[in-house]
Amino acid sequence: MRKENMKIKKAVFPAAGLGTRLLPITKSIPKEMLTLVDKPLIQYGIEECISAKINDIIIVTGRGKNSIEDYFDRSIEHEIILKEKGKEHLLKSVEDLSNAANLSYTRQKEALGLGHAILTAQNLVGNEPFSVVLSDDIIDSRIPVMKQMMGVYKNLGHSILAVQRVQDKDIPKYGIIDAEEIQKGVLKVKDLVEKPEIREAPSNLAIIGRYILMPDIFEFLRKTKPGKGGEIQLTDAIKSLLSTQPVYALEFEGTRYDGGNKLELLKAQIIFGLKNPGLRTGLIDFINNLELV
Ligand code: UTP
Repeated sequence: MRKENMKIKKAVFPAAGLGTRLLPITKSIPKEMLTLVDKPLIQYGIEECISAKINDIIIVTGRGKNSIEDYFDRSIEHEIILKEKGKEHLLKSVEDLSNAANLSYTRQKEALGLGHAILTAQNLVGNEPFSVVLSDDIIDSRIPVMKQMMGVYKNLGHSILAVQRVQDKDIPKYGIIDAEEIQKGVLKVKDLVEKPEIREAPSNLAIIGRYILMPDIFEFLRKTKPGKGGEIQLTDAIKSLLSTQPVYALEFEGTRYDGGNKLELLKAQIIFGLKNPGLRTGLIDFINNLELV
């Protein structure tokens, strides 16, 4: 079977970044472990992959990130106490997830950029197409975004990038694509540029943290020199990949919150809280009666 049509079974979760925008908490708590209502951000990302039938989860960690592995491991003390109290259900969601997913870990020794983090996972990925999830990109959507992307992959094959339109002022924060729409919401990428100035940007279509990538990307990542911010940029490697094969983009359906930004994380807490049946009424009541002292 041709590589670009092979089934996607693996997802790489780069989680070795320093999370400087969320300091000081990220000194000791990985950004990916911050809670969104009642679960860490990374759990939402893994659940999204499972819903898209991607069960092999490769997490790229780094120093100070051990709590990610501990979270998905068993906690014998808690299990004993909860069993005595008849409250085993409190651990059920994470236990079910750890059973459904095959989790493996690799370590990025230095935070040299997203591209470098993905390259660290090469041995675990091997020579097959794979997906990438940045779990700090929180996406509220009817259909999980990775599932939406798999639909496009099944039709077109090749690499697929999740994109969304951003306001002009935000363009310099993102990888931006130049592309042509070929079906509703599906674009053929013509060029990419990492964090351009507004006047140099070919569009306002920004790459968001969900990717399906051909394994050929590793060869280009190895050759990519540090770019913007001194980091090995994934966008630069995808630009090189594009000179050898097609790359598509999907303007996904859903609202995205940047979990690496304090205000956006707070907005996501409110939206996900309002969507939680057990919390909704209490939260609405609280908001309606807000009094600031
Ligand atoms: P970000 O740039 O959003 O994360 O990287 P950051 O560097 O941790 O945060 P700030 O900008 O300093 O606040 C996007 C994703 O890539 C991972 C991050 O963990 C995040 O999931 N990443 C980034 C790595 O795994 N390694 C890196 O060297 C850089």
